[in-house]
Amino acid sequence: MSASNHPLLKEGVAKIGSCHTLAELEALRVDFLGKNGALTKELKQLGTIAPDERRTQGQVLNGVRETLEGLIAQKKAVFETQELAARLEAERVDVTLPCRPALQGKKHLFTQIFEDLSAYFRAKGFQIMSGPEVDDDFHNFGALNMPAHHPARQMQDTLYLKDAPGFLLRTHTSTMQSRTFETVGVPVRALSLGSVFRNDAVDATHTPLFHQIEVFVVEPGITVAHLKHFLLDLLSYLFKIDLCAAAEREEPLPVRLRPSFFPFTEPSLEVDCCCARTNGELKLDLSGNWLEILGCGMIHPNVFKNCGLSTFADGSPLQGFAAGLGVERIAMLKYGITDIRQFYEGDARWLSHYGAN
Ligand code: DAH
Repeated sequence: MSASNHPLLKEGVAKIGSCHTLAELEALRVDFLGKNGALTKELKQLGTIAPDERRTQGQVLNGVRETLEGLIAQKKAVFETQELAARLEAERVDVTLPCRPALQGKKHLFTQIFEDLSAYFRAKGFQIMSGPEVDDDFHNFGALNMPAHHPARQMQDTLYLKDAPGFLLRTHTSTMQSRTFETVGVPVRALSLGSVFRNDAVDATHTPLFHQIEVFVVEPGITVAHLKHFLLDLLSYLFKIDLCAAAEREEPLPVRLRPSFFPFTEPSLEVDCCCARTNGELKLDLSGNWLEILGCGMIHPNVFKNCGLSTFADGSPLQGFAAGLGVERIAMLKYGITDIRQFYEGDARWLSHYGAN
């Protein structure tokens, strides 16, 4: 018998002809040519027959195998081409369609305020400092003239770290005073912006995380007069009004300095602005309400002492002022935002309204 009229070949050719899918073809290949396939079984039988017959039978069976393998490969190539054509058709991309609008990220109000004030202060020779949000008792309290058991500590609703005694989440960026005195020394002009933490419940005006700006100048001969000019200049910049010129003309100012108390400044002051909102814009003018905007004062001599500083290099006494501003407070005032939670919600509509490119 020749390979061409072997029953397995006839059966195989007929079955290959009626295969409709790659999976069917593969099942058929296994049926005939797989480990336990019909043809494989016959090939295995060859060992049991007489050598003469084995040779001729072997040639016939190998002929059948080669023909079936060739036909299967051909059919497989046809199926693969069809499948590719079908996929290309189904997954067709219309490159002429307009693309989806890309959402453009914008700078959060805080970033805008940070960048704006950094530029303002850099131009005046201030260095921008940053420090840890997890700080120790000394930098947050002790160095700032609030020794253990000082009553002022209690006002800060401190979050202490359970597993790290002596460490806490900083309650104010005034920590950067002692950190800067230690690393940079004096004289110094520095600014620090960052997150602070207090154990406050969340409502329209409180969140456990908020942001502060600490700014201070320690230079020979610095007095309250410098602090006052510094404040008028800063508020003029923030609210786009020339308070220094108005002060020179001895006009009544929409800004007042009020005596206050902070353990790390002496004297201590709070600054109020008189402001009114007209046409959605905040203006400093005498027709509005007085609102507290920042705390400041002349740095207490104990703060220098606690940081190991005694005099300037030329022996003159250490003098300087410091001020602390709440970033949320400034943003709420400037942009007429009444609920502090909006800053943290990450609402894309809010961001696209208040954000800047
Ligand atoms: N650290 C103060 C607070 O968080 C704010 C402050 C007040 C900072 C007076 C100062 C300052 O530098 O002089 O309430």
